[in-house]
Amino acid sequence: MRIASLMGRFFCACPLKIMLQDKFILLGITGSIAAYKAAELVRLLKKADAKVQVLMTPDAERFIPALTLGTLSESEVYSTVFSEHETGSWTKHIALGISADLLVIAPATAQTIAKLAHGFCDSMLTATALAARCPVMVCPAMDHDMYEHPATQNNLSILRSYGYAVLEPEHGELASGLIGKGRLPEPAQVVAAITSVLTPKQPLLGQHLLLTAGPTREAIDPVRYISNHSTGTMGYAIAETAREMGAKVTLVTGPVSLPKPNGIEVIEITSAAEMNQAVQEKLPEATFMVAAAAVADYAPAVVASQKLKKKEEELTVALQKTPDILYNAGLKKRPDQMLVGFALETHDAEAHAQGKIARKNLDFIVLNDLTVPGAGFGTATNQVVILGKDGSRHELPLASKKEIAAGILHHLAPFLPKP
Ligand code: CTP
Repeated sequence: MRIASLMGRFFCACPLKIMLQDKFILLGITGSIAAYKAAELVRLLKKADAKVQVLMTPDAERFIPALTLGTLSESEVYSTVFSEHETGSWTKHIALGISADLLVIAPATAQTIAKLAHGFCDSMLTATALAARCPVMVCPAMDHDMYEHPATQNNLSILRSYGYAVLEPEHGELASGLIGKGRLPEPAQVVAAITSVLTPKQPLLGQHLLLTAGPTREAIDPVRYISNHSTGTMGYAIAETAREMGAKVTLVTGPVSLPKPNGIEVIEITSAAEMNQAVQEKLPEATFMVAAAAVADYAPAVVASQKLKKKEEELTVALQKTPDILYNAGLKKRPDQMLVGFALETHDAEAHAQGKIARKNLDFIVLNDLTVPGAGFGTATNQVVILGKDGSRHELPLASKKEIAAGILHHLAPFLPKP
């Protein structure tokens, strides 16, 4: 896999913190002058809340002290398989390669690339690479002629054939004073490439999302209605992002002033009763449903057929409960379907949201806390917590609604029933 051209796509679409949070990254550092950039790389990964374990080859320590990397990564740096101060334990290289989300080798020398291509395992790094079950990304850094030599190019082809991602080096001034291809890209670019490798491009392929969005309007008479402040922005962002991630999307939407998204089946409704009917019809086809609509909980019991005239000082309009669309969907949910609700709360947010998971038979609920500045109705940004029926809790930091949509869908994707 060549990742130079993909680099930055997901880096731009989603803030690092959302994409790298809680990811376990093994950072292999080898004996190249570019090893000095590894310190900044560790710092950026830690800032994005990734867990970082540094593996250095013995030669790498000539260029950057293990102390620096251990301090930045907040973890002991490993170099050899057989540690002097540990007895009875030498299988860390196996455990690391199983538990990590990614092994990234930056910088990777011609020597290490050759070893990886031919299965040598004479250091903690090469042994871990050989045992790794996680994706591996190699970032070559060396002199231009070493990089262009057929031996190195053949070894890189072998690594690509193993499924390793290769981040191509940059052209520029090299440590030898020569100009050519061989420079390790800047740490921010390496982080962008890491994000790209960690993000499956179409994780929702084969899935069918049924989505409700926007407000509902409950008519009082032919000219008046009860509604709420929902603009549909969050729901529409989910619709577009799910389509980009490969899902078929059916959007049941209340009245909003947003453009109709392309490539999506859109069903326009006005009232909660109409939304309920559309959801009931479409639910059997869906593999998962996300209810982002702000449904009016009550509607006038009787809709006046003519405009109500102004008469008395006070007017009482009798209201009755609208159908709870999500509750009804929960009653019909099959074991091969997933149901996700939204909750907008002003107090005791998590307790109320947990109650809704149980009451409506949900798998997850996305909680908006209206007390957080920048979250909720009419804002371009949002900040949410995703609670699972198993008690799991996943926070997404304040970000644009499109970024939050990506964060939500990437969180849900691994739990979706296989299509
Ligand atoms: N919902 C729905 N139909 C309704 C009311 C709510 O489908 N009649 C869905 C919303 O789209 C949301 C979830 O249920 O995904 C929770 O909505 P919310 O208004 O927070 O909860 P309610 O059940 O209405 O409870 P309350 O108003 O008491 O907080």
